[in-house]
Amino acid sequence: MPDLDWNRTVFDRDYNWQAGGEEWSAPWGGSEAQWFGALYPRLHRLLPTRRILEIAPGFGRWTRFLIPACSDYLGVDLSATCIDACRKRFAGSPHARFIRNDGVALDEVPDSSVDFVFSFDSLVHAEIDVFRAYVPQLLRKLTPSGMAFLHHSNLKGFDNPDGAANHERARSVSGRDVANLVAESGGKVVIQERITWDGVGPIDCLTTFGRAGVNGDKKTIQLVNMTFMQEASTIRDFHRPYCEVR
Ligand SMILES: C[S@@+](CC[C@H](N)C(=O)[O-])C[C@H]1O[C@@H](n2cnc3c(N)ncnc32)[C@H](O)[C@@H]1O
Repeated sequence: MPDLDWNRTVFDRDYNWQAGGEEWSAPWGGSEAQWFGALYPRLHRLLPTRRILEIAPGFGRWTRFLIPACSDYLGVDLSATCIDACRKRFAGSPHARFIRNDGVALDEVPDSSVDFVFSFDSLVHAEIDVFRAYVPQLLRKLTPSGMAFLHHSNLKGFDNPDGAANHERARSVSGRDVANLVAESGGKVVIQERITWDGVGPIDCLTTFGRAGVNGDKKTIQLVNMTFMQEASTIRDFHRPYCEVR
């Protein structure tokens, strides 16, 4: 069970951060190709914006793209090792701040102040208790038109018949659970996409949500994307070479 202690022990102490997390982008050919080929197409309606809150930036794999896309950036991570690394790496960006938290509290973020919340490749290791804590707070922290994009586990919602590697995904979380939490907390899911991960079925989920009135009368879009890793190969083979231009 990847509980908060597991996350703290692994990412604060045991993990070898020498490559800064870049190694996790290998199937896409690197984080630049992954950002512009896989993440940005899903976020382009939401960026650039005024204030961004990133939950769990690690060593800043996505932070380097988020900071130029806003006028005020805040990164919150439970690991002091990660917070120190980000403070050093982004010392030249005066509009970026980094705060260590306990893995559940967002007390230092003012209410109704955040236009975009982002978290990718981090909360997949967070069990449902973390979402019970974060989701209602995020809905308070968002502006009325603000949106959150969270990457989380769907392992509970996926019967993994072959017993394939589950990549330490949290077992107590499904896309439905997170959608229910958003609704119970007075929010609205705009789009939810279940995605495959590294040879396994849809063990992950991308949930984009905001306050109740967000996105007008449009209904929630539900997608099941069984080709997320095929997308990665296309990005690696045909987008990544463009990262060499100039
Ligand atoms: C696998 S790393 C990914 C970091 C970064 N998102 C990336 O993709 O490179 C996971 C990060 O999540 C952080 N983390 C895990 N659970 C957290 C929680 N509940 N709240 C804040 N940070 C958390 C860890 O400290 C670590 O920095």
